Amino acid sequence: MPFVRVAADHEIPVGHGLLVENNGLAVAVFNRGGGRFAACGAVCPHEDGPLADGWLEGDAVVCPWHGFDFDLVTGQCRVDADLAIPVYPVRVVGDAVEVDLP
Ligand code: FES
Repeated sequence: MPFVRVAADHEIPVGHGLLVENNGLAVAVFNRGGGRFAACGAVCPHEDGPLADGWLEGDAVVCPWHGFDFDLVTGQCRVDADLAIPVYPVRVVGDAVEVDLP
């Protein structure tokens, strides 16, 4: 699976997400601060909320629609164990944020 450049690091404010698309795949990329980033599927599996518009709470992203939160390491929903999102490895090369996409 190739790492793909999705943004420059300064394009994503700390604590916020950015919606990116690659080959039809919508991905939410978050700046966790301290040069750390995370990436996950952009669509909330609860009712299709926009996760890139959500916010971070610790290691989780919170969906802005109904507040379900998802662990950014495992993708597991902390509210409903039946829900999960895909998570993708992220690396920073220079100022480029790169995501390992399927
Ligand atoms: S759509 Fe995300 S919590 Fe409901």
